[in-house]
Amino acid sequence: MHYFITCAAGLESVLKKEIELAGYKVMSNQPTLIRFQGDLSAIAKVNLRSRVWNKLFLELGQKKISDWDGLFDLVSTIDWEKYVQGNPINVTAASRKSQLTSTPTIQSIVKKSIVKKILHGDKWQLPEDHSKEAIEIFVFIDSDVCSILLNTTGESLHKRGYKKATGEAPINEALAAGLLLLSGRKFSEPLYDFFCGSGTIAIEAALIAKNIAPGSFRKFSFQQFDRYDQSLFSNELEAAKKKIFLEKQHTIIASDIDPEMIKIAQDNAKNAGVEKYIAFAVKDVKEYLVTSNELRGAIVSNPPYGLRLNNIIDLESLYRVIAELFEKNPQLHWWIITSYKPFADMKLSGNRKRSPLYNGGEECIFFKKSLL
Ligand SMILES: C[S@@+](CC[C@H](N)C(=O)[O-])C[C@H]1O[C@@H](n2cnc3c(N)ncnc32)[C@H](O)[C@@H]1O
Repeated sequence: MHYFITCAAGLESVLKKEIELAGYKVMSNQPTLIRFQGDLSAIAKVNLRSRVWNKLFLELGQKKISDWDGLFDLVSTIDWEKYVQGNPINVTAASRKSQLTSTPTIQSIVKKSIVKKILHGDKWQLPEDHSKEAIEIFVFIDSDVCSILLNTTGESLHKRGYKKATGEAPINEALAAGLLLLSGRKFSEPLYDFFCGSGTIAIEAALIAKNIAPGSFRKFSFQQFDRYDQSLFSNELEAAKKKIFLEKQHTIIASDIDPEMIKIAQDNAKNAGVEKYIAFAVKDVKEYLVTSNELRGAIVSNPPYGLRLNNIIDLESLYRVIAELFEKNPQLHWWIITSYKPFADMKLSGNRKRSPLYNGGEECIFFKKSLL
C-alpha cells in the first residue's frame, strides 16, 4: 500500500527520518510531502506516533491521466463503500505541471464519479448524514500522474488535543516537536524555554523525553471506517504504552513574563499528563541575567516577533537581553525561532546556523548555536 504524508516546509528531513525509523520505505520526497510504502497497520502506527507530520493519506488509486474521462474512470475503479457510509464527502485538489489544471472542475468530476459508483448510477445526489464526520478526499495531480488520496487522520495531526487554551501567538505542536528534533539536542541535558507562552515546546519536549505517543490524546478519521480492523489501533496503542519511560529524569524549565500564560501552560501540560516533568515559573527573561556561566544545556524558544502580538514590545531591547544571556552562559546551546530579522546581525560569539521555517504562514528563521 502507498501513503502520502504532509508536513510544514522545513521539517521534511525530520519526517523522512521518522518514517524510516517506524520501519517504512520512503518512495519519494518533495517539499512538504513524502510518499511511502507500508502495510495496513501503518495507518494506526503513523497517526498515533507521528510528531511532525500533519495528515496521513492512504492512496486509493493512481494513474497517468490526460483528460476528464480518464479522471472519472480512475475514481470509479475504487470501492467507495468501504470508506463512505453516509458521511459527507469533501474533495480537495492540487495540480502541478499537468494537463488538468482547474481544481474546481477536478473536485466536481471526482465527486460525481464517487456518487455514481456508490448509487450505481441511479441518482446524482448522495444522501449525506451530517451527524457523521466528513470524509476528505485529496486529489493530487503531479506531472499528469493522478493520486486519489483518503485522509486517514481527520483534523491535522498538529492538533494533539491537549491545548484547550493558547496565547496570541502559539506555535503549533508539530512545529514545536520539529524544532526539538531538528535541534539534535541531547534529551538527557536540561532544556529551557524562557518565552513558553502556552507551553507547547516544553510539553512536546516532555512527550519526546518520556516517549509518549503524541496521538494518544485524540481521535482519528480512520476509526470511523467500518471495514478498518480496529484491533490494529488498539494493538498499536498498547504497544505505545509499553514504550513510555516515566522513570527517566529530565529537567525541563519553562517560564514566561505573563502569569496568565503560565496558568494556561500548566493546564495544557496537565491535559497531556506531563505537568510533573516541567518546572513552570513566572519570570521576565531579564531575571536570568543576574548569574553568569550557570546555565547549562539547551534553550529551544520562540520569543515574541511583534507580528501577531498586540501588546507593544520593545523588540530591540528584548533581543539584546537574549543576546546578553547567551554571551553570559557560553555553555548553553540554543535554538531560536523568530521572524525578527535584526537578530541575524546581532554580535554573538560562536557559530550560528540558520534554517528557513514557517510558523502559521509566517516566514521565520530557526537560528542555532551549538557548542561544536
Ligand atoms: C511568541 S509567544 C510564545 C508562544 C509559545 N511558543 C506557545 O506555544 O504558546 C512569546 C511569549 O513571550 C512572552 N514574553 C514577552 N516578553 C517577555 C519577557 N520579557 N520575558 C519573558 N517572557 C516574555 C509573552 O508573554 C509570550 O507568551
